[in-house]
Amino acid sequence: MTPGAGSAFDVAVIGGGIIGLAVGFELAREGARVAVLERERPGTGASRAAAGMLAPGHEAGTDPVLYELGLRSYRLWPPFARDIEAAAGTLTGYVGRGIAVVATDEPEAAGLRERAEREGAVRRLRWLPPDALPPYLDRFQGVRGALVFEEGGHVDPVATVRALAAAFAASGSLWTGAEVLDFRDEPGGPGASGRRLAAVRTPWGEVRAGTFVLAGGVSNAALSARLGVALPVIPVKGQVLAVQPPPDLRGFLDGQVPVFGNGVYLVPRLDGRLLVGATEEPEAGYDRSATLGAITRLAAAAQRLVPALERARWLGAQTGLRPGTPDRRPLLGPLPRYPNVIAAAGHYRNGILLAPLTARIVAGLCAGREPEFDLGPLDPGRFVTAPGSDHSMPGPCPGAGKGTAGSEGADTVRKHQWRS
Ligand code: FAD
Ligand code: GLY
Repeated sequence: MTPGAGSAFDVAVIGGGIIGLAVGFELAREGARVAVLERERPGTGASRAAAGMLAPGHEAGTDPVLYELGLRSYRLWPPFARDIEAAAGTLTGYVGRGIAVVATDEPEAAGLRERAEREGAVRRLRWLPPDALPPYLDRFQGVRGALVFEEGGHVDPVATVRALAAAFAASGSLWTGAEVLDFRDEPGGPGASGRRLAAVRTPWGEVRAGTFVLAGGVSNAALSARLGVALPVIPVKGQVLAVQPPPDLRGFLDGQVPVFGNGVYLVPRLDGRLLVGATEEPEAGYDRSATLGAITRLAAAAQRLVPALERARWLGAQTGLRPGTPDRRPLLGPLPRYPNVIAAAGHYRNGILLAPLTARIVAGLCAGREPEFDLGPLDPGRFVTAPGSDHSMPGPCPGAGKGTAGSEGADTVRKHQWRS
C-alpha cells in the first residue's frame, strides 16, 4: 500500500531497524495488515552499526533471563535467516560456528577456566588450554587459553536489514521518510482501564491501527514520553572499525568465529572484512560521531592481540547508539496505561541476536496469544516512574571489553484473527 492520509492497519510498527522489520515480517506472514513506519530509511539506526554477533552465552554475563532469551532467539536464527533469504532473494551472512573468548594473562585464564567448570554443562562451553587451541587462533599472540561457546555465530546486520526490508515489503507496507511526529489517543472504552492509541501522525498523513509497536531504538524513550509513560531507554554509543586483513590472516577469516579478547572483539565477515569493536560510551549521549581516541584505542588493542593486523587496510569506522536499559534487559510487552501499544525496546547489545524471538513474542501479543516466554522480567512497566525520572546504565556490561567502554493497567490484548 502506498502512503496516504487515513491509512488503517491491524498493526503499525514505529521504526524500521532490525527489531521493527523483524516484527513486521513476522506479522505480515501471519496474515496481518501491517505497516512499518521508518523516519529515514530501513536500518539507519543502531542496526547499521552492529557487529552482528549472536553470542547468547557471553553477552548475557551472569543474567539467567538474558541468557535464556538469547539462547532461544539464537536457535531461531537458522530458520529465520532461511525464510528472509528465500523471501528477499539476498543473503543475511548467517554463520553459526561458535564464539571464542581468549585469555591473555594468567588471572584471566584462571577466571575463564573456572567459568567453564561452573557453567560448562549448562551453556555448552569448554575451556581449551594453550596447547589445544583451534587453527583459527594461530596468528593470535600471547593466548593463555580460550573459552569456546558452541552456540554462537554472526550475521551481517547491513545485509540482514536489507533482506528483511525486501522480505517485509513483499507482503507488508514499508513507509520511508515517515517519522512519527505525534499521537492521537482516546479513552480505552467501556470496562477498560487506561487509554487507547488511535492513530499516529506522519508527514505522509495519519496512520490508524488496532495495535502499535514501539520499535524506534533509542527514540523509544522520547516516543513513550509523549504518551506520558517514559520508558528508560538510554543511548550507549558504540564505535567499531572495519579493516581488510592481510592475506596471512586467511586462517582466522576462514574460521568465521568471532573472538573476544584484550578488551576488544574481532568479527570476521564472509566478504573478507574484519570488524574490531567496540566502545561503550554512555557519557556520549546522542552523539554518534567517530572519534580518533576510540579508533586508536581499538586499533592498538586489536594489534596487541593479532600483530599481523598492523598491515590491515583501513576501511572505515561505524558508530551507533545501543538502546540500553538500567538492567540491560529489553522492554517487551504492553505499555502501562496503553494496552494496545506494545514496546519492543531496549535491546542494548543484543538486538541482532534477539530479533527473531522478539518478532515472535510481539506478533503473538498483537494476536492475543499467550507469550512463549515469561515476560514478567521484561515488563516495560518495571521502571516506569514519574515523568522526568533519571535513569542511567549500571556500568559496562560483562560482554563489553575492558578499557572500552508490573505493567499496571495492561489489559489483556484481545485474541485476534488476522483478515486473510
Ligand atoms: P535501531 O536499529 O536504532 O532502529 C530504530 C529505527 O527507528 C531507526 O531506523 C530510526 O530511524 C527509527 N525511528 C526512530 N524514531 C522514529 C520515529 N519517530 N518515527 C519513525 N521511525 C523512527 N547486537 C547484537 O545482537 N550483536 C552485536 O554484535 C551487536 N553489536 C553492536 C555493536 C555496536 C557498535 C552497536 C552500537 C550495537 C550493537 N548491537 C549488537 C546492538 C544492536 O545494534 C541493537 O540492539 C539493535 O540494532 C537495536 O535495533 P532497533 O531496531 O531496536 O533500533
Ligand atoms: N554486542 C556487541 C556490542 O554491542 O558491542
